[in-house]
Amino acid sequence: MSVKETVREKYVQAALRVATGGSSCCGAAPAFDGCCDPITSNLYDAGQTDELPDAAVKASLGCGNPTALAQLHPGETVLDLGSGGGIDVLLSARRVGPAGKAYGLDMTDEMLALARENQRQAGLENVEFLKGEIENIPLPDNSVDVVISNCVINLSADKSRVVREAFRVLKPGGRFAVSDVVTRGAVPTEVRQSMLLWVGCIAGALEDHEYIRALAKAGFDSIDIEPTRVYNIEDARRFLTSEGIDVDAIAPQVEGKFMSAFIRAVKPSATKECCGPACCS
Ligand SMILES: C[S@@+](CC[C@H](N)C(=O)[O-])C[C@H]1O[C@@H](n2cnc3c(N)ncnc32)[C@H](O)[C@@H]1O
Repeated sequence: MSVKETVREKYVQAALRVATGGSSCCGAAPAFDGCCDPITSNLYDAGQTDELPDAAVKASLGCGNPTALAQLHPGETVLDLGSGGGIDVLLSARRVGPAGKAYGLDMTDEMLALARENQRQAGLENVEFLKGEIENIPLPDNSVDVVISNCVINLSADKSRVVREAFRVLKPGGRFAVSDVVTRGAVPTEVRQSMLLWVGCIAGALEDHEYIRALAKAGFDSIDIEPTRVYNIEDARRFLTSEGIDVDAIAPQVEGKFMSAFIRAVKPSATKECCGPACCS
């Protein structure tokens, strides 16, 4: 099975759990009894979730709260890469108001069905869920003010391509405002694999400087990575122990190196390459 098929199958199951009354993680059939994990829990405050359908909240599988950290203005167009049950799309739609629009993009039919039902229950008309892959965004160049995403880019086997696609669809001056898992500093390969398995990063997470490099190479400016939750070995102890890993032995190599972060960048308003010697003043 390819990475993409493994990812899709995981989220088909998560969507079906919510659709049958459970939660994406801690519902009727948790994959692991420690799955009310420190990654996906308590990301949204009650003021935000109170106004959303229950199933949108239960389907939340992010690792941050990009709409709380991103600047969103009335009338803007927002695109959520890997929108899942739609929680961040619905929150964005309220922020940009009826003159704005929020798109959610997801490759998993079951998640799209859940998200569209959540949209219906929320009564929001300025929302559209699109089927597609974040490596091939089905929107035109320069059409979006803000790209958000919540714990999805780490699932892609081609993260540089995702970042290039985000750059392409953003308007000049548009913002990239994404929550994702990143790593920081050198970690032995086996320790890294165990921790990323715990986090659920099937395709592996980027190191912070690799993320910065991919964003800069795509053309972004004003790149910043702000840790929002740093994980420690105690967070992962039960899972790692169940996998037969000697947790105390690897603990010193984990500390401070695995985190959820808010990643922001800006598409420059005018690209220097297209300017003649006299037109950039
Ligand atoms: C970790 S969940 C996050 C969902 C949502 N952002 C949230 O915060 O609840 C990942 C979602 O991204 C979707 N996804 C993963 N890889 C994708 C890809 N390459 N293209 C489109 N969607 C993808 C999955 O179907 C799933 O709905």
